[in-house]
Amino acid sequence: MALSYIHLPLLLLLLPLSEGATVFTLHNNCKTKVWLGILSGAGSDTLNHGGLRLKPSDTVNVTAPEKWSGRFWGRHGCTFNRRTGQGHCVTGDCGGLMHCSGAGGTPPVSLAEFTLNSPVDYYDVSLVDGYNLPISVVPIGGSGSMCKPVTCVSDLNRSCPQDLQVKVNNKVVACKSACLAFNTPEYCCTGAYGTPDKCKPSEYSHVFKAACPSAYSYAYDDATSTFICDRANYLIRFC
Ligand SMILES: *[C@@H]1O[C@H](CO)[C@@H](O)[C@H](O)[C@H]1NC(C)=O
Ligand SMILES: *[C@@H]1O[C@H](CO)[C@@H](O)[C@H](O)[C@H]1NC(C)=O
Repeated sequence: MALSYIHLPLLLLLLPLSEGATVFTLHNNCKTKVWLGILSGAGSDTLNHGGLRLKPSDTVNVTAPEKWSGRFWGRHGCTFNRRTGQGHCVTGDCGGLMHCSGAGGTPPVSLAEFTLNSPVDYYDVSLVDGYNLPISVVPIGGSGSMCKPVTCVSDLNRSCPQDLQVKVNNKVVACKSACLAFNTPEYCCTGAYGTPDKCKPSEYSHVFKAACPSAYSYAYDDATSTFICDRANYLIRFC
């Protein structure tokens, strides 16, 4: 009896490190602050209340439970009321909340997406909803021939076609995908274009593919945009 009393706190301490848990190391390599957004998939635990602030060169570890799925994105140019946690971000805003707690980022937003332990980890960087910040995913450990870094460090707002640009004070702050900008079946891969053989890359998706070759540039981008690791942790880096 006395023994289990002593061991209980120790056990609780070790629990988050139990086998199956995945560590996400979040790093801000940008020159400005990044407010991270995290949206968990259906049935997955919300991590860190869905948001945290990373000052330049900050690194924070977040541990996801086994079989977690969800997405990470960066928000920039945010101001929040310290007391209420309400405010606004120039890009990636999640309903004006510091802690996104279930709300997604308003596109255009570059995403890092994960489905863990299913039975291996699937991940990708997606520009299907457009681009707002350079984002990379680097597996730490893990195995598999498709267990590779996905880097998207290009300053895509520089190469963004004029009709996809999002401007604030005359400065390009983000780049819409063609689907987001024009909302047609052809660009969104819906309706008659709802299959991989019908939905082809466009002059617009080529711009994204050229800037970030290993990221999804449109909904049915080729299979080389999905990566797979067995038992890895992940570094997610902004810029
Ligand atoms: C973050 O997690 C990694 C494992 O992926 C570990 O090597 C590193 O020491 C951790 N850092 C902190 C501050 O806990
Ligand atoms: C692209 O956007 C980022 C942040 O959104 C900004 O820091 C950078 O200066 C922009 N680049 C250009 C060329 O506008």
